[in-house]
Amino acid sequence: MKDLRIAFIPGDGIGVEVTQEAIKALRTLQEAGRVRAQYKVFDWGAEKYLREKVALPAGALPMLQRDFDAIFVGALGDPRVPSNQHAADILLGIRFGLDLYVNQRPVRLLHECLCPLKNRKTSDVNLMIFRENTEGPYVGAGGNLRRGTADEVAIQEDVNTRKGVERILVYAFEHARSKGLKRVCMSDKSNAMPHAHGLWQRVFADVRSRYPEVESRHLFIDTLAMELVRDPSQFQVIVTCNLFGDIISDLGAQLQGGMGLAPSANIHPGRTSMFETVHGSAPAIAGKGIANPMAAFLTLGMLLEHCGYVREAARLEEVVKMAINSGRTTPDLSGRFSTSQVGDWLCEKLKQ
Ligand SMILES: NC(=O)c1ccc[n+]([C@@H]2O[C@H](COP(=O)([O-])OP(=O)(O)OC[C@H]3O[C@@H](n4cnc5c(N)ncnc54)[C@H](O)[C@@H]3O)[C@@H](O)[C@H]2O)c1
Repeated sequence: MKDLRIAFIPGDGIGVEVTQEAIKALRTLQEAGRVRAQYKVFDWGAEKYLREKVALPAGALPMLQRDFDAIFVGALGDPRVPSNQHAADILLGIRFGLDLYVNQRPVRLLHECLCPLKNRKTSDVNLMIFRENTEGPYVGAGGNLRRGTADEVAIQEDVNTRKGVERILVYAFEHARSKGLKRVCMSDKSNAMPHAHGLWQRVFADVRSRYPEVESRHLFIDTLAMELVRDPSQFQVIVTCNLFGDIISDLGAQLQGGMGLAPSANIHPGRTSMFETVHGSAPAIAGKGIANPMAAFLTLGMLLEHCGYVREAARLEEVVKMAINSGRTTPDLSGRFSTSQVGDWLCEKLKQ
């Protein structure tokens, strides 16, 4: 296997702290001869933006595509940049610029004590959310009229294309087929948004007919939110649009124990893809050494699995589970250990 080339963008706040731990994990796997990789760290984030007014440097996208197989992002966001323009330029710049149309967020409960719902077993919370990642209201189409007056009008366009809807639905069904999963749920709000989500309905009818072995159903997004809390065990694969996916996957993150445990991937099959923790830069706890590094370990796992290191990804999840079982956790999971103590412990276990 040739060397994997990884670009690390630690970003801001706790993004920097947890990325350090992910790099430590990668080095551990390299030293154990389990992964062959080269990596480079990029200082893109608030500091650079404030210093040089540069968010995503010129030529960054073709460089990432040419020189790297995968990108790892910690988190971006800094109160000193009130608009968080740099974060949007970097994150949305990479997502849109590299056309990473799949946002994949696994929701897996690693220990039953972490679930905020009563009497849930780990097997009750084990699903994959696929969020369309390049369209919807996030494309920035719209504007303001009579801004700042009592008659102000604000318009944010919801862009949905047949190609965009079809490719995310196909990706979700292909995932179900390849993993032997039986249930796919598509969610939209076609009752209130007949134009945009009427398209989702029509494309869904077409795509689901190509996968007769998969039991597929539709839920309106409000019903999905309710059902996810009432009984998450009924779901295996959920696929939805950009906005609803953003919201529902954070609900999913809580079902599995919080932001400190939630990884994600931004994928375009066959191209350089980007892997990021779901959490933000958490300015309130940044610099205190108490950020949970587990989401970063699991994100590295998703990256490695995507690049063919399936056993190593499983091992990363295994050691995270071991740490939770033995109480080697940061304060967000009621532990008393620091970010680097948890990271060191996880790396020690990785070696074994
Ligand atoms: N993908 C990203 O880079 C991303 C995602 C979300 C938010 N943000 C940005 O991050 C900044 C903060 O946003 P926010 O406060 O809404 O969300 P956040 O995820 O940073 O924090 C939400 C809550 O979860 C806690 N938390 C998050 N990650 C944790 C971890 N690893 N360990 C322990 N506790 C953790 C925080 O302390 C906070 O209480 C904002 O600037 C926002 O725009 C960035």
